[in-house]
Amino acid sequence: MALLDRAIVRTLPAVPKPIVRRISERYIAGTRVEDACRVVKRLNGEGKMATVDVLGEEITTPEEARHIGYEYENVFRTFGEQHLDANVSVKLTGLGLKLDHALCREILERLVRQAAERGNFVRIDMEDSSCTDETLQLYRELREAGLGNVGVVLQAYLRRTLEDIESLSDLRPNVRLCKGIYVEPEEIAYQDFDEVRENFGSALDALLAAGSYVGIATHDEWLIEEGGRLVRKHGRSPAEYEFQMLLGVRPERGTRLVGEGHRLRIYVPYGEQWYAYSLRRLQENPKIAGYIAADTISRFLPVRNGRS
Ligand code: FDA
Repeated sequence: MALLDRAIVRTLPAVPKPIVRRISERYIAGTRVEDACRVVKRLNGEGKMATVDVLGEEITTPEEARHIGYEYENVFRTFGEQHLDANVSVKLTGLGLKLDHALCREILERLVRQAAERGNFVRIDMEDSSCTDETLQLYRELREAGLGNVGVVLQAYLRRTLEDIESLSDLRPNVRLCKGIYVEPEEIAYQDFDEVRENFGSALDALLAAGSYVGIATHDEWLIEEGGRLVRKHGRSPAEYEFQMLLGVRPERGTRLVGEGHRLRIYVPYGEQWYAYSLRRLQENPKIAGYIAADTISRFLPVRNGRS
């Protein structure tokens, strides 16, 4: 990332919310389930599957956690009505992980059971390292309760990830593998770009060797190529893995993956609590300075032909 972009990333939390909202629109489907499903329908039309995330990691009360749980029921209902090819992703903090472990487990289990009744699937996102142990434990508990339609996420930047793959191997887990987005200390997380890539490759190799279904979640060209090489090495057919990308990031590369015969799932977030998610996406955008400049300039330019 260029020097100016890095400097801007540091000041992003001070940027007024309306500006953050405008420049992060490409990453968020909207605020309502109808917005998300409209996007999913378009993606399905392009041969892309989706996973829908109800944004809610900023919740502070058990009622809000329950509300997020109910909203997911709404999501499943709308999927059914519109015959959409999509599953859901959940953040456990949004279901109350930091408020009350038992409540979080109750909401999550209910959700996974509802998904099972509809032949659907729940992916548990992975958040910062203060959540890792509890998230993996809850995942194990659900699997041991006989629920097979649930998957988890592992982060290649964590030094522990290969050990986690080993200790989960008895479950043959369905895993989304990503680099990891939270700021973590050097003691527990690789900081070097190439080390993260290398650990991603090793983790993917280990997961495929262990028979896991893997969602290869990356926009990094080198890792996309490496992912393709590893699934071929392990003799996987296209039905036995998928690539995953975020809404608004490298959509043309996603289209190419579909054209090459790979399954691709797009992460589609929506909801009122769009701020924390948007900041993370903007902080990763290598052209963030250009976006902010373009937004600022457009506010000072006169409106032409009735369009701004
Ligand atoms: P990298 O960051 O190197 O990006 C590669 C290239 O992609 C960049 O050079 C740029 O061209 C483009 N790009 C990436 N981000 C961009 C952006 N925001 N705007 C514009 N261009 C961009 N993390 C986590 O900790 N827990 C989780 O549960 C998940 N879940 C998840 C689901 C899915 C489907 C994806 C794709 C990713 C996640 N992540 C995540 C985020 C992940 O950890 C990681 O932060 C991002 O995917 C960026 O890493 P890349 O592998 O894409 O590489």
